[in-house]
Amino acid sequence: MAGSVAATTAMRDEVGLYPQGAAFIDGACVPIEEARIPILDWGFVRSDCTYDVVHVWHGRFFRLDHHLDRFEQSVAAMYLKNPYTRAQVVDILMRLVRLTGLREAYVEVLVTRGMPKQATRDPRLCENRFYAFVVPFIWIATDEMRARGIHLHVSDVVRIPPQSLNPAIKNFHWADMTKGLMQAYERGCDMPVLLDLAGGIAEGPGFNVFAVKDGTVTTPAGTCLLGISRQTALDLLQEQNVKTVIGPISPAELRAADEVFITSTAGGILPVTRIDHQPVGDGEFGPVSTRLKTVYWQRHDQGWDCTPIDYD
Ligand SMILES: Cc1ncc(COP(=O)(O)O)c(C=O)c1O
Repeated sequence: MAGSVAATTAMRDEVGLYPQGAAFIDGACVPIEEARIPILDWGFVRSDCTYDVVHVWHGRFFRLDHHLDRFEQSVAAMYLKNPYTRAQVVDILMRLVRLTGLREAYVEVLVTRGMPKQATRDPRLCENRFYAFVVPFIWIATDEMRARGIHLHVSDVVRIPPQSLNPAIKNFHWADMTKGLMQAYERGCDMPVLLDLAGGIAEGPGFNVFAVKDGTVTTPAGTCLLGISRQTALDLLQEQNVKTVIGPISPAELRAADEVFITSTAGGILPVTRIDHQPVGDGEFGPVSTRLKTVYWQRHDQGWDCTPIDYD
């Protein structure tokens, strides 16, 4: 057992100590393989928790403030309280990345309901807990999928509706997503896109959806997470003077689009080349998605909206 490193311990000689990943639990940093949560934490037994995922690329956090803003909004909307301040969270994340030595990393922060001191069903009596972990960058799609474009399945599974849970809160209610994924695999597709109650396109497991038709790019709102990569795509498209619309997309419109792409922190801009085995447009990467994807990664190379990590 490598043992834990208290969060306040000095930093010297720690860079790269835990190359497989590092986690912050109970005030200490531990190697990822030793990270454990208590079984009675309601985050585990009830999915009573919220989280966020930010990535590190070339040794810099990408759009960290956007992620922490969304995280804080989610924490408040879930009637949770983070025992750590934002400045402390940033320090912990910096520390964890340095401990891994990773230049490209997947970084997750969570606040769970935690546990009550005595048996009760009253969530107000629980002591909320903050966790964080850093592991090597995780792609939402394999190398092969990224090279040939994503093959989507339009699922008939309805994403948990906003009447039940505000989709702007990043949440652990993924039984619908897992059902959709299993059905997509059964049909020989890579991943599903779930519907909203009105039959429109909502979102998929870990991504937002965009359709391009006659030069206009549309993405839904109100029934999906407001992805930070979704916002980045909108920001970059607007810079390029591409017309963007926030509005509904029907499955028929998605199938008839010139181009379709998805966005995620775990992969950026990912063109979709097939929907239910039928080609999207001519079945190749389209010009709007290709340019957007290129600019997205150029911005990473340039350090645009990035927070550098001091590894020295
Ligand atoms: C349900 C859902 N929608 C969309 C996204 C994409 O959000 P972001 O671009 O912030 O990663 C995610 C990210 O994990 C997600 O879980």
